[in-house]
Amino acid sequence: MTKTKTADTPAETPHQSVSGNAAQNRPAQTDSATDGRLRIRHLLGLEGVCREDIERILTTAESFKEVLDRPIKKVPPLRGQTVVNLFYEPSTRTRISFELAEKRLSADVVNFTASTSSVTKGESLRDTVKNILAMRTDVIVIRHPSPGAPHFLTRATDAIVLNAGDGSHEHPTQGLLDIYTIWERWRDLRGKRVLIVGDVAHSRVARSNIWGLLTMGAEVAICGPATLIPRSFSDYGVEVYTDIDKALDRGVDAINVLRIQRERQGSAFLPSLREYSRLFGIDSERARRLRPGALVMHPGPMNRGVEITSEVADGANSVILDQVTNGLAVRMAALYLLCGGQATPGREGE
Ligand code: CP
Repeated sequence: MTKTKTADTPAETPHQSVSGNAAQNRPAQTDSATDGRLRIRHLLGLEGVCREDIERILTTAESFKEVLDRPIKKVPPLRGQTVVNLFYEPSTRTRISFELAEKRLSADVVNFTASTSSVTKGESLRDTVKNILAMRTDVIVIRHPSPGAPHFLTRATDAIVLNAGDGSHEHPTQGLLDIYTIWERWRDLRGKRVLIVGDVAHSRVARSNIWGLLTMGAEVAICGPATLIPRSFSDYGVEVYTDIDKALDRGVDAINVLRIQRERQGSAFLPSLREYSRLFGIDSERARRLRPGALVMHPGPMNRGVEITSEVADGANSVILDQVTNGLAVRMAALYLLCGGQATPGREGE
């Protein structure tokens, strides 16, 4: 992972317009100081994204969160920019959140759903995107079942690409909003212990969380059935547990409960949902063993009664709906910064 010196940030709020074509305005990926701009050109995943870029997104998101509490929740930075949301898989939170973020930034927004498009007539991803870009679009947000589809787009187009979830690979804005939710509580993630529970093997949310949290200095543990835990993660400095009680015994500041993804796994991975719930489900008894003030998180959609009980999901420690609110601010920040905006001065590099 590239570790770079913290850039100075100018005294500027993220409310100024990013004029012109976004693809021309975006900063080149460079190791030199960036004046508060991101080093990354696209947001494809959190693996390899430097701490300074994550901090730029967090501090800028905090500024945008304040905008969301205003009577008029709209700022002009992406006026004149066109953003296309390409969704080849179902989504509720991510899709609505991206669309709202784009509209709050004054972008022109086009929504594309594969199931009602010419994809059903056999059109390839490359041809679909070339046609959309021929209409002079600047930014593509893509959710796709194939890992690497967003990376492919960066080679096929000049547009800025944001990954809204690619198969089991990464979901970087979900990782960032989860990290923001923890950062908002404690500011410094160093030494904070985050436990990710569930189907890590099939989870793009887990991967993005792991990369981002490790970069931010958190201690990360994963727990789940041995069939759903990739062995390789222990090589990256993540603690691995197949016994939830042992994982909880070590002390947990935030628990991120993953959804059991029935659509991505055959029945071979789990004996039964009832068995999973008994061995790994987060209920009140297990939630009581978290550290005082610990956060209970879930990326959604939830299988209530399977990976988490309603009592815990709706309980005092739950920040599940805060995650959704934070997701809007984080996506505004990511879009704004990728289009050439400068980070809000904040706690970068502290
Ligand atoms: N967390 C998440 O990605 O939810 P959606 O699938 O509803 O977008």
